[in-house]
Amino acid sequence: MASMRGNLLPSSILSLCLLSLLSVCKSTDTITSISSLSGTNQKLTSAQGKFALGFYQPPNSSYWYIAIWFNTISLQTPVFIANRNAPLTDPATSQLTISSDGNLVLLNGFKTEVWSTNVTGINLSNKTQAVLEDNGNLVLSYVSNTSDVLWQSIDNPTDTLLPGSKLGLNKTTGISQRLIAWKSLADPAEGIFSLELDPNGSSQYFIQWNKTEGYWTSGPWSETQKIFSLIPEMTEEYVYNYKYVSNSQENYFTYSIKPGINLTSRFIINHNGQINQQTWVDTIQQWVLFWSQPRQTCEVYGLCGPYGSCNVNKLPYCNCLQGFTQQSKNDYSLEDYSGGCVRKTKLQCESSDPTKVQQDKFYVLYNMRFPDNSKSMQVNSAEECESACLNNCSCSAYSYKSVCNLWHGGLMNLQDGYTSSNGGTLYLRLAASEFSASKRNKRLIIGLVAGGIVAILFCIIVILVVMKRKRDLRSARMLKVSQGTLIAFRYDDLQFVTKNFSEKLGAGAFGSVYKGLLPDSTAIAVKKLDGFHQGEKQFRAEVSTIGTIQHVNLVRLIGFCSEASYRILVYEYMPNSSLETQLFNSRDAVLNWSTRYQIALGTARGLAYLHEKCVDCIIHCDIKPENILLDDNFVPKVSDFGFSKLLGCDFSRVLTTMRGARGYLAPEWITGAPITPKADVFNYGVMLFELISGHRNNSDQGYSKISGSGFFPTFAATKLIEGDVQTLLDHNLNGEAPIEELERVCKVACWCIQDDETTRPTMGQVVQILEGILEVNTPPMPVLL
Ligand SMILES: *[C@@H]1O[C@H](CO)[C@@H](O)[C@H](O)[C@H]1NC(C)=O
Ligand SMILES: *[C@@H]1O[C@H](CO)[C@@H](O)[C@H](O)[C@H]1NC(C)=O
Ligand SMILES: *[C@@H]1O[C@H](CO)[C@@H](O)[C@H](O)[C@H]1NC(C)=O
Ligand SMILES: *[C@@H]1O[C@H](CO)[C@@H](O)[C@H](O)[C@H]1NC(C)=O
Ligand SMILES: *[C@@H]1O[C@H](CO)[C@@H](O)[C@H](O)[C@H]1NC(C)=O
Ligand SMILES: *[C@@H]1O[C@H](CO)[C@@H](O)[C@H](O)[C@H]1NC(C)=O
Ligand SMILES: *[C@@H]1O[C@H](CO)[C@@H](O)[C@H](O)[C@H]1NC(C)=O
Ligand SMILES: *[C@@H]1O[C@H](CO)[C@@H](O)[C@H](O)[C@H]1NC(C)=O
Ligand SMILES: *[C@@H]1O[C@H](CO)[C@@H](O)[C@H](O)[C@H]1NC(C)=O
Ligand SMILES: *[C@@H]1O[C@H](CO)[C@@H](O)[C@H](O)[C@H]1NC(C)=O
Repeated sequence: MASMRGNLLPSSILSLCLLSLLSVCKSTDTITSISSLSGTNQKLTSAQGKFALGFYQPPNSSYWYIAIWFNTISLQTPVFIANRNAPLTDPATSQLTISSDGNLVLLNGFKTEVWSTNVTGINLSNKTQAVLEDNGNLVLSYVSNTSDVLWQSIDNPTDTLLPGSKLGLNKTTGISQRLIAWKSLADPAEGIFSLELDPNGSSQYFIQWNKTEGYWTSGPWSETQKIFSLIPEMTEEYVYNYKYVSNSQENYFTYSIKPGINLTSRFIINHNGQINQQTWVDTIQQWVLFWSQPRQTCEVYGLCGPYGSCNVNKLPYCNCLQGFTQQSKNDYSLEDYSGGCVRKTKLQCESSDPTKVQQDKFYVLYNMRFPDNSKSMQVNSAEECESACLNNCSCSAYSYKSVCNLWHGGLMNLQDGYTSSNGGTLYLRLAASEFSASKRNKRLIIGLVAGGIVAILFCIIVILVVMKRKRDLRSARMLKVSQGTLIAFRYDDLQFVTKNFSEKLGAGAFGSVYKGLLPDSTAIAVKKLDGFHQGEKQFRAEVSTIGTIQHVNLVRLIGFCSEASYRILVYEYMPNSSLETQLFNSRDAVLNWSTRYQIALGTARGLAYLHEKCVDCIIHCDIKPENILLDDNFVPKVSDFGFSKLLGCDFSRVLTTMRGARGYLAPEWITGAPITPKADVFNYGVMLFELISGHRNNSDQGYSKISGSGFFPTFAATKLIEGDVQTLLDHNLNGEAPIEELERVCKVACWCIQDDETTRPTMGQVVQILEGILEVNTPPMPVLL
């Protein structure tokens, strides 16, 4: 079977070969002792053309590797790299072949072996071969018996777990497999972050730094829900089947794509130490993120290396502390921060002649997450703590909060703008010359002014101390309650973080939203609700239900406040405001088509999650561009979900919201039929039309002029049926949208606004249509109000 495949040259591959301009063209799926692979023009292609193997050069790299990549997508994305730690400089003279010991080996220009499958005990009376299979697996076996697998690539993964492959623990040998991240954007060598199943036998996965320091766990597997307890996103299973197996020989996790779904998907650990699941969306030619863990990049242990500090609100995330500079500028620019930072100036105690220079000093850093591995000691004052640090040259920082903590050597895992219990003021040791002003010449003037300054300083200090105490108390209080998933804020704390509700972000039917900044400098959006007459207990119960709903495409609730008559919700802050702002009120760049498509898809995912995956089905009742918020990457987040739970889907309230937005009302609101999730589908469809045209459906500008009727969806449906969707596209895009995608979105929109709710698709179906998994016919003309 396999040998037959080796001899055949499928016609598609043949035509590919003809396209390339060379005389020698090898394109089979097999390497044998008489065929080998060399140069960039040769590759293996699996039988059905799904995967390819050949020489690969990462972007921004000058080195070459033997890699397997997806052969069906336009962006070359490796799933396995053989010689990740032993790069090649010249593919033309390098060779992948079967060696005399039966192993698959990679030889460089000097015919030296740089990589080998390293199988011992191969029976040399039998010939071996390597076959690239259609699941992306490269298998070394005997030619005479291909089911006797000697080595296979999926048992030796790089940073990617493909559907169908396992990541687990062999109980006989105690060996647990690891996915190991790339070192940097451009370097596939083994980096410092890895993912593995608990070697002690439990069902949790760990992400580790340097194979020792675990900083994230998946939580144990739940067989009833088929998810890991700390990755609720896995519930969204339109596409995947997840499986965890534990038997006497092995424990492993694997996933597969549901039968009948045609999708390219991968699961990786990235160079920043986060794991994520992505699917390729052909229509936009991009990998789209399904979920990612840990959610915040700064939660990754040691991301910024020694003396580097992480900040979630800055890009790049990593920066050097005062008095330090990047150990390698090049690594930093390729997002490999693990080398951290080095001193600009040597410490006094390290210098050759310690007597001649000034003693080291301490630079004060506020709100720092403390580094790991402190040594604590009992002292009587801050001065004693400081001198304890000064007395040992390896001491690089201290903190003093009733107890004295000293840190030796490189400071790891720092984060600025941080105010949890393991953070505070850090005194960083620097050479005296790092502190600017040399005062020697100015003694006289200083003498004169000193008296006055001392008096003023004293006053300032007193004021500062009082204020700081207040602030510390406040931070301590806010953090104390943050232990659970939701923070219960006090009203005066919220007043403080929003500067007395001074920066208004917007106002809606339910109340006004203000921007705030938590003590750890996390930006938040604070929503003061009007007209809530619910009791505190009921409010808390509802809010805690909403708080458990987490999804990439839903705005995350951080906390709430329920004091006296105040009912306040606190959300994560979205830097790019809402779809409404971006579409209708933005003076900046126009949203391009691919972003719009992502927004349509993401919003559909968020809604599908609310409708189908939460414990109780949640109908949003109020889908419109104002309620689709956009994060810094323009990932859409549905907001205000769960209000229908707090308030009920109340017609009069919905009607007030709709005022001035004619056409958003699903017919069942009027006919009095029961409200189902299909009401959201209707609103979603109406919104899609605005996304396409870039205008309000009933605005006086633009399309309503062409359409005459004044209501864009009516016009759009007519054009769609006539087969002329190009006229519907936002003029600002100058026709820059693939016609096939545009048509797909128009069809979806038109199906969604069908009068009869049973003819409308579910949100889950919408997702599949936009992902290109389901095909869709031209809809009938909707009967609009
Ligand atoms: C990497 O390459 C891309 C283009 O291939 C370029 O835009 C980018 O600036 C490069 N990055 C670095 C750090 O060299
Ligand atoms: C193969 O074995 C050699 C010698 O034991 C070792 O240096 C090399 O890293 C191994 N290669 C692989 C790919 O495991
Ligand atoms: C190797 O294969 C030959 C031919 O099939 C067989 O006679 C021999 O016993 C095998 N040797 C081992 C060690 O399996
Ligand atoms: C080796 O080849 C012989 C004959 O070709 C065959 O009988 C035997 O099963 C093979 N051994 C293995 C391990 O495949
Ligand atoms: C081929 O290998 C498999 C697995 O080692 C073995 O079970 C089977 O008997 C072998 N078949 C032959 C014909 O040697
Ligand atoms: C565990 O490893 C041993 C030795 O490499 C191997 O023989 C066995 O098949 C492995 N078990 C599983 C379940 O993969
Ligand atoms: C495994 O168990 C040992 C002994 O109980 C413990 O010291 C170790 O930390 C555990 N490892 C992990 C990764 O949990
Ligand atoms: C990682 O651990 C090894 C020993 O396990 C150690 O030699 C190495 O220095 C560590 N790397 C870093 C960056 O600390
Ligand atoms: C799967 O999708 C790809 C690209 O979208 C297409 O080329 C291929 O024919 C599809 N395969 C099947 C079996 O539908
Ligand atoms: C400095 O501190 C380190 C780490 O605690 C310790 O090993 C070393 O002995 C100390 N050196 C002196 C001179 O006290």
